[in-house]
Amino acid sequence: VWANVTMGPPDAILGVTEAFKKDTDSNKMNLGVGAYRDDAGKPYVLNCVRKAEAKIMKDLLDKEYAGITGVPQFTKGAAILAYGADSAPLNEGRIAITQTISGTGALRIGGEFLARWFPGNKKIFVPTPTWGNHIPIFKDSGLEVNHYKYFDKKTNGLDFEGMVNDIKNAPKGSIILLHACAHNPTGVDPSQAQWDELSKVVKDAGHFAFFDMAYQGFASGSTDKDAYALRKFVKDGHLVALSQSFAKNMGLYGERTGSFSLVTASAEEKARVDSQIKIVVRPMYSNPPVNGARIVATVLDTPELNAEWLKEVKMMADRIITMRTQLKNHLVNDHKSKLNWDHITNQIGMFCFTGLTPEQVEKLKTEHHVYLTKDGRISVAGISSKNVAYLAKAIHEVTK
Ligand code: LMR
Repeated sequence: VWANVTMGPPDAILGVTEAFKKDTDSNKMNLGVGAYRDDAGKPYVLNCVRKAEAKIMKDLLDKEYAGITGVPQFTKGAAILAYGADSAPLNEGRIAITQTISGTGALRIGGEFLARWFPGNKKIFVPTPTWGNHIPIFKDSGLEVNHYKYFDKKTNGLDFEGMVNDIKNAPKGSIILLHACAHNPTGVDPSQAQWDELSKVVKDAGHFAFFDMAYQGFASGSTDKDAYALRKFVKDGHLVALSQSFAKNMGLYGERTGSFSLVTASAEEKARVDSQIKIVVRPMYSNPPVNGARIVATVLDTPELNAEWLKEVKMMADRIITMRTQLKNHLVNDHKSKLNWDHITNQIGMFCFTGLTPEQVEKLKTEHHVYLTKDGRISVAGISSKNVAYLAKAIHEVTK
């Protein structure tokens, strides 16, 4: 029956983990997928999450279906976390929100909703480069994927002028996908002043902003600071779309906990939008799983757990910053690398876009058992004080 099925390529990110698992070398390092590790290189379950789980167990909750849009206590908390407790559209009851299967599910529900209902031109513009999965998600949703300039290879920084020009020149009424903070894969974000300008540019060009916020708290260590761009756009009157994930900032990767929301013009409009979101979700998976949503809701709603969570997010962000500094120091001081590695510490969030070529990435894998995505992105969260020196040596070997 399946003689016509052709072999597909491995996933650009998750395929790296598959290859890593097959490697038997004791020095092997997986810097592919963006998943936080502690300094012993082990997956990290946050203390606040363990405590929330204990509380949920004790409460002996039932296993009934959630509603189509998920656990209300979760979506309420997620919206406050993103938009801020003082958000006007939130307090006016005009944010439509649904729980989703993490950030990917949020983007997909958003893509499907926009493909059906967005009155503009169904073209979505994503940065170059962007998270590899953005492109198939939006294509499969029925949107036409286009690109705007973002990363400047010469400076390893932001090509702000190119970005602004491309957004200005996109056909009026396009959807502009923006990484709210800790841009994946580059680790390069616009400054607050640049976000202010982007808000104006997007508005003047008659576009629609769709924020992907998968790393709230990971860029600066503060969930409020990292929500600056989203909140600024909303304050400026944009009716935005937002995808949120709790995979990274609460370490709930496998729990698949996220949300998709739309700021609408009125409570009456929100009710109509809600009804159509439900019509998108129901034939896909009926309703989302409850466990991750209960954990997030418990952490967000319990003052001690919330405070502990914010400390733990900052701790994770700080460990990543320490690894960046150590990696750069080893390259510059120990190996006297002639290359400029300032971008390792200038870039933020979970990733460093190293500038390594696909050939150098391949050499790192075959000669040093270091695994990363072909575009040269390393998940800094996968580095520890025990293997940072090994990594620096390996990078130096393939770049000198
Ligand atoms: C990543 O970029 O590594 C993460 O967002 C995980 C994923 O699903 O790709």
